[in-house]
Order: sequence, then structure tokens, then C-alpha cells
Amino acid sequence: MRQLFSTRSMKPTVLVTKRIYPEAIAYLRERAEVDYAESDDGMSAEELARRIRGKQGVVSQLTDKFTSDVIGKLDSIKVIANVAVGYDNIDVPAATRKGILVTNTPDVLTDTTADFAFALLMAAARRVVEGHLFVHSGEWTKWRIDLLVGQDVHHRTLGIFGMGRIGQAVARRAGGFSMRVIYSDTRRAPQEVERALGLEFVSAEQLLREADFVSLHVPLLPQTRHLIGAAQLRMMKPTAILVNTSRGPVVDEEALAEALAARTIAGAGIDVFEHEPQVHPGLLKLDNVVLAPHIASASVDTRRKMSMLAVENAAAALEHRRPPNLVNPEVRERQPI
Ligand code: DGY
Repeated sequence: MRQLFSTRSMKPTVLVTKRIYPEAIAYLRERAEVDYAESDDGMSAEELARRIRGKQGVVSQLTDKFTSDVIGKLDSIKVIANVAVGYDNIDVPAATRKGILVTNTPDVLTDTTADFAFALLMAAARRVVEGHLFVHSGEWTKWRIDLLVGQDVHHRTLGIFGMGRIGQAVARRAGGFSMRVIYSDTRRAPQEVERALGLEFVSAEQLLREADFVSLHVPLLPQTRHLIGAAQLRMMKPTAILVNTSRGPVVDEEALAEALAARTIAGAGIDVFEHEPQVHPGLLKLDNVVLAPHIASASVDTRRKMSMLAVENAAAALEHRRPPNLVNPEVRERQPI
């Protein structure tokens, strides 16, 4: 039988697997006994298994892998509160089967992530990093008419895969650059959203063929793994730029490195990778890709808010309230806590 905290007056116990913002820890400590791994290293599977034993909650990050195997062995956990909007590190159906609530941190990072997607788009289009390195290295000795010429952004076509919250926020920014915005998704956005943002719903193939910029905003699912592979890259314009701030495995990194090296597409701005923190060596050699270490949501305010939201979700679950960002409400419907 699953072991729960025995009386409601006792504080529940929560494992925090990695460093988060201090105010979030302070909030949690007022409500729970906290086992805090105050480090950026993350835990090995063995350490996680050992420290999670007997706890009621865990505040996790995207580097913590909650596979069905790991979840199957959890003896007392009632909530996994992920400090991220994405939760592909957690086998949610397995958690649901086990009656474990899973929560994420949406909304607070929408604009910050969209800002960064646009930053990568601009940086790749206008060769900002190449310019920086050129000046820094002292190579800039004369002005030239075609020095580091790039692609215009304004009045061009932006193709967005995934018109959820972040996709819409990117589309809103595109409006300021007078861009045409086309999108592809498994479901069409509501008409009022399409109208307000001036969106055109197109097939994936039309998007790839017509877009000057392709920006990815889909969750990582079996259906979106390698959504962009060699075939899709071949459909893109030779002047096109790919931006990925979603999840690494949405793009076949090897195929991307090859397409960039062969100039099948002009450039890319990539924040997420298939095997983080490793990056395909082919990408590291190229000057037509801007690389970032999974920092699209990394503004001081947003990372603080994500930390707070995660602990609020954990505390709500352990105090028998509905967590504000519940990913698998079926659990609660089945057995209200
Ligand atoms: C998320 O929230 O899913 C990001 O990738 C990490 O901030």
C-alpha cells in the first residue's frame, strides 16, 4: 500500500532535485520538510531513487528522467512538480496509472521564450554572432559593401510549427516586423486568434516551401520527434532559416548539420539539442548557425517565476488543493485528494 503522510498536521516531505531560486525554497520550507539538493549537478538515477524514497513530493527539472521504470518504483510520491513548461522528461501516462499528479510551469515563460526565439531568428538572419566574432578578433580592417550581408526579416514569411501559447507570442512579435505568418499544427487555432494575429493555416509542406523563417513550437511527442529531418530540410528555401526553441529531438540534428554545411538552407538558430548538453560536432564547426545552451526562458524574472510556480503546484497537491498547472487532471478526478 502507498505510504502517505500519516496525519494532516504533519508536514509532507519534498525532494528538490536541483538548485532553484531561494524564494521558492523558502516558500516550500514553510509548508514541507524539504530535502534540497542545492547543486546544479542533478542526481544520478541511484541517488534519485535513494533520496525520493518515502517522500510525498518532488520538484524536478527537465534533466530528471521519470521513465515508467522509475515511476513504477515510487512508493509514496503524490506529485511531480516539473520546473518547466515541457514535461517530456516524465512518462505522464505511467504517472497517471500510478495516481501521481504531474504539474508544469506554463504562461510565465511564454513571452520570454518568444523573445528568445525572435532573438535567434534575428541573430541568424542578420549574422549578429559572426559580426561580433569578426570585430572581436580584430579581423575588421575595412568597410565593404557586402560585408556580412544577411537576410531581411521585415516583410518576409514566418512559418510556425505549433500555434500554442509560445507560437502565438512569436506570431505577435512578427506583426511588428510586418511579416506574413503561416502556421501548421494538428489543430487549427480559434478563428479569433487567426484573425487577431493575421495567421494563415497551411500544410506542413506548404509551410516548409514558402517560409523564409521556420520556428518550432511543438511539444516533444512520438509524432513530433524528427519533425524536421532531411526530407523537410530539402523542402525549405536555400535562403531559409530554422529556429528551434522547443525540444532538441524535434529536429534531426545530423540532418540539420548536413543541410547547413551544404547550404541547403541558409542558417539556423538553435537553443535545444538532441542529447543535451552535447551538441552534434558538425554544428560546432559551422558559422551559419547560432547556438545557445537551452536558455530561451532564462530571464531572471521568468526563472524566478518558474521556480515559484513549481513549488506552488507541489504545495497545492500536498495540501489537497488542485494544483494550478495540473497536466494529468484524470488522477484527481479518479481519486480526489
Ligand atoms: C521549458 O520550460 O520547457 C523550457 O525548455 C525550460 O525552461
